Amino acid sequence: MNDNFLRACRGEPVDFTPVWLKRQAGRYLPEFMAIHSKTDFLTMCRTPELAAAVTIQPVDILGVDAAIIFSDITTTVVPMGLELEYSDRTGPYYPHPITSRADIDRLRVPDPDDDGLDFVYDAIRICAGELANRVPLIGFAGAPLAMASFMVEGAMSRDYARLRRMIFGDRPAFLQLMDKITAHTTNYLRAQAHAGAQALMLFDSFAGILSPQDFDQLNLPYIERLCAELADTGVPLIYFGLGAHGSLAKLGNCGADVISIDYGLRLDTAIKKLGNGVSVQGNLDPFVLFQSATEIEQRVRETLLQGKAARGHVFNLGHGVMPGTPVDHVKAMVDAVHAHGVA
Ligand code: CP3
Repeated sequence: MNDNFLRACRGEPVDFTPVWLKRQAGRYLPEFMAIHSKTDFLTMCRTPELAAAVTIQPVDILGVDAAIIFSDITTTVVPMGLELEYSDRTGPYYPHPITSRADIDRLRVPDPDDDGLDFVYDAIRICAGELANRVPLIGFAGAPLAMASFMVEGAMSRDYARLRRMIFGDRPAFLQLMDKITAHTTNYLRAQAHAGAQALMLFDSFAGILSPQDFDQLNLPYIERLCAELADTGVPLIYFGLGAHGSLAKLGNCGADVISIDYGLRLDTAIKKLGNGVSVQGNLDPFVLFQSATEIEQRVRETLLQGKAARGHVFNLGHGVMPGTPVDHVKAMVDAVHAHGVA
């Protein structure tokens, strides 16, 4: 098995620097579009055979060193009592978002043995079988703050005003919401590990909406709780907090094995702040992949050089790969990492 990804996560010696891409299964791949043209997004998520097929595509096509299960952060909380729909304009959305304390009281923490998310676990089982240990499979969930914001805003938001008004205007309601989401997310990630996920990643996609002080007080404890609860799964835990630059020193001790860094700061700066107790993942700007192969290679080498300071480096983008990215440029990036990465 090519387990360089798992070894880099744990800070163990690697044969070469492993690489995968956030959102690597998706709209920039013609093979993905071929499947998507016949099926809508939510049906793809809920059909284990289709989810497994598009999960494996980037491994075959790009030669990446890890697969991430095809799913979405928004599907996770549906069994808590939310309806989910999809719009071509905004992506996934909740038509009846959380607006009151009564809504939060009504949210369920689903029974882990009957949580309605078997389609995810079945997709993981199929993938684990089909990958046959070629590369490790990553499971994931939205971090509690990311889910709270989606549930309160209903969809992606420009300024997250509803959530931020709740955080500062009705603190107990916010904390109750975070508690319930965290309990469910713990069960959900644990079940993914039991189904065969070999690493678990938390996407905290709107972490930058909190000041460092509020992040440390209101978000970090839930990340720490998740990491502590999931430690006994034995799989590496990866935390990605987009814009959480002010709390990196604390995130270096949150219990995650890997901190994924966005493109908003230098990787070597991030490593200094994190300290040497964690590995890093990142952090090439996804738009660099629209440049030429020569320019991509140069930027890959710079990022690899900076990553050397960490106990382990998983090469990745600083955010998700963009629709329209030329596939041969993505391949050029993967090849450059494999050619120049440290042994
Ligand atoms: O990395 C992977 O390939 C695994 C699959 C994955 C998807 N979404 C599939 C997807 C993962 C890890 C996600 C996470 C996710 N979903 C996040 C966090 C991302 C981050 O980097 O912070 C967020 C905010 C969402 C919610 C979401 N899903 C939105 C807002 C949208 C619409 C806009 C967009 O980015 O496409 C989606 C749709 C979505 N999720 C697609 C895919 C492949 C595109 C679907 C399509 O083309 O129809």
